[in-house]
Amino acid sequence: MDWTKLSFAVQKTDSLIISRFTDGEWSEPEVSKDFTFHMDVYAGVFHYSNSCFEGLKAFRGADGKIRIFRPDENAARLARSGAFLGMPYPSPELFIKMCRMCVEANIDYLPPYGYNASMYLRPVLIGTNPQLNVTSSKEAVFAVLGNPVGSYSGIKGLTSVTATIARNYDRAAPNGTGSYKLGANYAPSFHAYNLAHSQGFTELLFLDPATKTNIDEFGTSNFLAIKGNTYVTPLSDSVLPSITNKSLRQIAADMGMKVEQRVVPAAELSEFDEVNACGTAVVITPIYSITDKPALESESATKVYEFGRPGEVGAVSKKLYDHLRGIQDGIEQDVHDWCMIL
Ligand SMILES: Cc1ncc(COP(=O)(O)O)c(C=O)c1O
Repeated sequence: MDWTKLSFAVQKTDSLIISRFTDGEWSEPEVSKDFTFHMDVYAGVFHYSNSCFEGLKAFRGADGKIRIFRPDENAARLARSGAFLGMPYPSPELFIKMCRMCVEANIDYLPPYGYNASMYLRPVLIGTNPQLNVTSSKEAVFAVLGNPVGSYSGIKGLTSVTATIARNYDRAAPNGTGSYKLGANYAPSFHAYNLAHSQGFTELLFLDPATKTNIDEFGTSNFLAIKGNTYVTPLSDSVLPSITNKSLRQIAADMGMKVEQRVVPAAELSEFDEVNACGTAVVITPIYSITDKPALESESATKVYEFGRPGEVGAVSKKLYDHLRGIQDGIEQDVHDWCMIL
């Protein structure tokens, strides 16, 4: 394996871990080398998107220890998503056991320290019983996949990108499912993303779907801004509660910064020194510019907000990033006990 060439793409490993919920209980998790599911074509997942998932990472540290970052948080979030869908979901103990099994079964695919690479774990919960009626699933499969990944921008990481605002598209509905990690939340954003990408923008920023005046989040990551010594991130019912954001807020507070999780009007973009997207995949993606247009299809912009210099990460954001990555790599002290050591 060439660890320098890893990106965020499918890279099959030896095995996945699988458990099935039938007759009211979860089966003992199995290590399986079969990356295909044999499933009834009437399974709810194929028709009504009865499914939710998670994303977390395992790291090989500078000290040789293997760490999984905050698996308890992902276990709780999956339980919240599964409960919302009214389907069976694994206990935190089963979730964490299967994540550990997945790393152990695929240990040769866990990148060595020093490549800014890790093993991304993808737990996925899908409704399997045959159904035509539009209801919650009674039977389910829970699987954990392991996928070695690098950073989008290589070993160096932290190259800033451009974004645009999705004024005439939403990723979530008011009182909808935006705060749950459901498969059904993602496909509806593809059209807007395709438009943004075709115009050369990397990221897409969604506003609150009710008033379209406040910032919600990017399509696959939270929004965070730095304003002087303050960390600002949106408080909204339609945003996914990001574990990376939660961790960065704690690190910012530990560093003596003021942390504000509140309604963030889009008009405040002109006041921010640094803006980032944040999530498990890369921790932070610095945003160099945000282009606001009346509609994604519009030729001309109403306003372009710029932050820092093209391609570069802001100084405060870099400090937060380094600290979080340091904890994951076993370099910084894990004072909040976030890492589970294998
Ligand atoms: C919509 C959305 N927001 C935010 C995040 C970031 O969440 P986390 O930091 O837990 O990965 C993700 C990725 O999981 C996401 O899909």
